Amino acid sequence: MKLKKFLTFGISAMMAFTALTGCSGQTTTTTTDTESAAVSDSSSDDNVITMATNAAFEPFEYVDDNNHIVGYDIVVADKIAKSLGKELEIQNIDFDALIPALSSGIADFVIAGMTVTEERQANVLFSDPYFEASQVIIVKDGDTAITGADSLAGAKVAVQEGTTGDIYVTDELGVQTVSRFKKAVDCAQDLLAGGSDAVVIDNQVAQNLVSSTEGLVILPEVLTTEEYAIAVDKDNAELQAQINEVLQQLKADGTLDKARQAYIEGDEAVQAELEADLSTVTE
Ligand code: ARG
Repeated sequence: MKLKKFLTFGISAMMAFTALTGCSGQTTTTTTDTESAAVSDSSSDDNVITMATNAAFEPFEYVDDNNHIVGYDIVVADKIAKSLGKELEIQNIDFDALIPALSSGIADFVIAGMTVTEERQANVLFSDPYFEASQVIIVKDGDTAITGADSLAGAKVAVQEGTTGDIYVTDELGVQTVSRFKKAVDCAQDLLAGGSDAVVIDNQVAQNLVSSTEGLVILPEVLTTEEYAIAVDKDNAELQAQINEVLQQLKADGTLDKARQAYIEGDEAVQAELEADLSTVTE
């Protein structure tokens, strides 16, 4: 009995070892529409690791002019796949579909500028945090009516659906009129078009929106303190541990600093260098 158990363990350990090391030639496959995301379950393929994200959150994940999914988180995801010796497949889906994608097996891990919250911890395991963030308010330049969180209660506020910005304005501030959008950029467009009075969103994404859109400003007040982490399914402590190890490595070898330089500080040369190193992206 004991021996049998040992053998079973030995064989699966060997298989796992082969899966970790036996892969050559890595490619990244990306799927950009939600429908195919729903039908494909590639976690059954040992050479592929599937990451789910919502690529409407620049600079962490977005679709660039060449139709490639890029950003800070994509660099991290690519390195995780490479360290595990696997091909990375990206499922680009709605933000509120990300956590369900883990329990249904559509994705092995989620990296999406996702904040660690207690509610989410009830459904997923989070890695160690890799980025600090906060919610901020964007208003139209010259607006004097909204000066901070205190003046939001009676205002029309745009958020990205299901995010901590949504939770904050809805539950903490009790804002009555909340417009929920699937993409960060649509929140800014709604504000510009006069559909809403303010946007509440993550600080770095706010920076991006404001620098790419005329006529918007960020208020100085910091509404929350948050940490981004990578999520895996509740029963996948093994992958959680592997991801933590890779994160340690990426911190130690300067990769996270480089990703910050490229995507947060906007150093285009470093960005080009990091993107050249991404595994081939096929649509
Ligand atoms: N940090 C916020 C949250 O976790 C927003 C994340 C949105 N990310 C995205 N890829 N759309 O709720």
